[in-house]
Amino acid sequence: MNEIKIKIDNLTAELKEYNYNYYVLAKSLITDFEFDIKLKELQDLETEFPQFAHKDSPTKRVGGEVNKDFKTVAHRYLMLSLANTYNEGELRDFDARVSKTIGNNYDYTCELKFDGLSISLSYFDGKLTQALTRGDGSSGDDVTINVKTIKSIPISLRGNDWPKDFEIRGEVVMTRSGFNSFNKTREEAGEQVFANPRNAAAGSLKMKDSAEVAKRPLDCYLYYLLGENQPADNHYDNLMAAKKWGFKVSDFMVKAANVDEILEYINYWDEARKELDFDTDGVVIKVNNIANQQRLGFTAKSPRWAIAYKFKAERVETLLESISYQVGRTGAITPVANLTPIKLAGSIVKRASLHNADIIELLELHEKDFVFVEKGGEIIPKIVGINIEKRVANSQKIKYISHCPECGSALVRTEGDAKHFCPNEYHCPPQIKGKLEHFIGRKMMDIAAGEATVEALFNKGFVRNVADLYDLSAEQLLKLDGFKDKSVENLLLSLEKSKEVSFERLLFSLGIRYVGETVAKKLATYFGNIQALRTASKMELIMVGDIGESIADSMIEYFADPLNIEIIERLIKAGLKFEIEKSESQYENKLDGKSFVVSGKFTIPRDDLKRKISDYGGKNVSAVSAKTDFLIAGENMGPAKLKKAEKLGIEIISEDEFINMIK
Ligand code: IVH
Repeated sequence: MNEIKIKIDNLTAELKEYNYNYYVLAKSLITDFEFDIKLKELQDLETEFPQFAHKDSPTKRVGGEVNKDFKTVAHRYLMLSLANTYNEGELRDFDARVSKTIGNNYDYTCELKFDGLSISLSYFDGKLTQALTRGDGSSGDDVTINVKTIKSIPISLRGNDWPKDFEIRGEVVMTRSGFNSFNKTREEAGEQVFANPRNAAAGSLKMKDSAEVAKRPLDCYLYYLLGENQPADNHYDNLMAAKKWGFKVSDFMVKAANVDEILEYINYWDEARKELDFDTDGVVIKVNNIANQQRLGFTAKSPRWAIAYKFKAERVETLLESISYQVGRTGAITPVANLTPIKLAGSIVKRASLHNADIIELLELHEKDFVFVEKGGEIIPKIVGINIEKRVANSQKIKYISHCPECGSALVRTEGDAKHFCPNEYHCPPQIKGKLEHFIGRKMMDIAAGEATVEALFNKGFVRNVADLYDLSAEQLLKLDGFKDKSVENLLLSLEKSKEVSFERLLFSLGIRYVGETVAKKLATYFGNIQALRTASKMELIMVGDIGESIADSMIEYFADPLNIEIIERLIKAGLKFEIEKSESQYENKLDGKSFVVSGKFTIPRDDLKRKISDYGGKNVSAVSAKTDFLIAGENMGPAKLKKAEKLGIEIISEDEFINMIK
């Protein structure tokens, strides 16, 4: 037995050492294959002899624990942001302010500004105890379970000269290379791709299943040590000590004696950062000495002892070869510039979004122009200007299309809309396919089919709208390329399963313009079922919290189209859920079609009160009329409503009386 314990101890220590070298120091001491064999060996031993397993074993890095909800926890020290500077002058102003407070004898550190997600790690007795996101700066989300899967973050520290109780802050980033292959895999699987590594890192840290987080290529650079008993009197040496304890501290941090040296660092990295495998959006300059930092202190938002210098977005020039016009599932037309491929911020750019006709007009884009391209926060970069000097004589101004490139219908542009639309909703192929793809998506009806299947179903003429999906037969599916008994069974099964999807998700899946996840939820909760929603007036729709005029118009327009009604009726027949779920035993139909107006403030959120009304079979209406049965009067309710209700003789009840009605 003792032998086994020793074996587990040794393997654990050995694998930890490999991990530290690989993830923190970027040194491979053994091949991945050898590592995996040893890890498997340790895993097997730990399964058989769990009493000897170490709490911080490298096998734990694969995750497995599931986050139910992310607890919000107050930060021990506020998590502030940094003030930004954009040029030399602003940097010199900062230096002048610093020297006014602390004299002339000081130095700075220069570090890269990592473009990721800030994180605060707490350690007690050398063990990671908690990881919080920044949140609103005074409290953040507890993402400890997920952070433990990031292999460059030590779960237990090396050496023994760390403070007993401290915090360390840094940035969780996704490497560019990791991001590119990760996004590619998602694209191939028909999943939504992330716009940039920062979003991917942020999305990863908020996942419920830590085993999934473990698969994401995340890394973490630490840049700020907090707490009592710090090892040194200056920031630079503190981070050097942290490095010895096992933290990943950037090798690119330097000390600078004055602004000229800072500028040298900035100029060097403005170019060199393009070769890094992670995104940086600037340089962070900090007063090095901690006592000086304390003398300078903080403003409400940021430290006075540190500042960020933001790089100008990288800009390249390339040829506009042509413009294509994409038709989205709602019929919205998006012009896209096809460019001569060029390297920009670590990737090759071939296309740039032009968003709408106004942008083309604003840029005064001509055919075969040389354009300046920048990367913003989106995947597709944008054209920010034109090199007029290179414009060839007689080149034609770009003329926006007047007809849909896919179906030839004349495009329409409603006042107030930035985009042109193809109105041929039910016969324009990309709109039909787009709607189907949206409908079957993972967050929607979650039907086991991808873009290729939709394409095939469409091409064979089997499916023209979402209701057709539920009429598909095994016979038809077997006619699709690559479909065998098993795949047919899977698809039919998942269609069957999708009938259980909740009303709010179904509503979202229908792809009604402006009705996203949140709006769908609001509408479903408020109206309770499709019948009530279908017959709601514009006014009633607007009265639902956060529903604006354009959403209301879009709903009215949707239900006014007989084709939509037909689709909904077919979906109802197929057995899809067009009402909020309520188990009969839980809610009785106590309010039986009675209509309620809710006004004022209550002890419970107003939306919850409305939800109860629909749960118990009542109907929510917005305005008091002769048809209203009850007015539930809360605190500070509008006097006009009250007066009207009194005049019409409508029963006015309190929140308590209402609760009694449904008890
Ligand atoms: S120091 C009290 N150092 O930039 C100041 N921040 O825009 C502590 N960031 O919230 C921050 N790289 O998330 C610091 N080397 C670096 C950084 C850095 C990136 C982030 C951090 C901060 C944000 C401010």
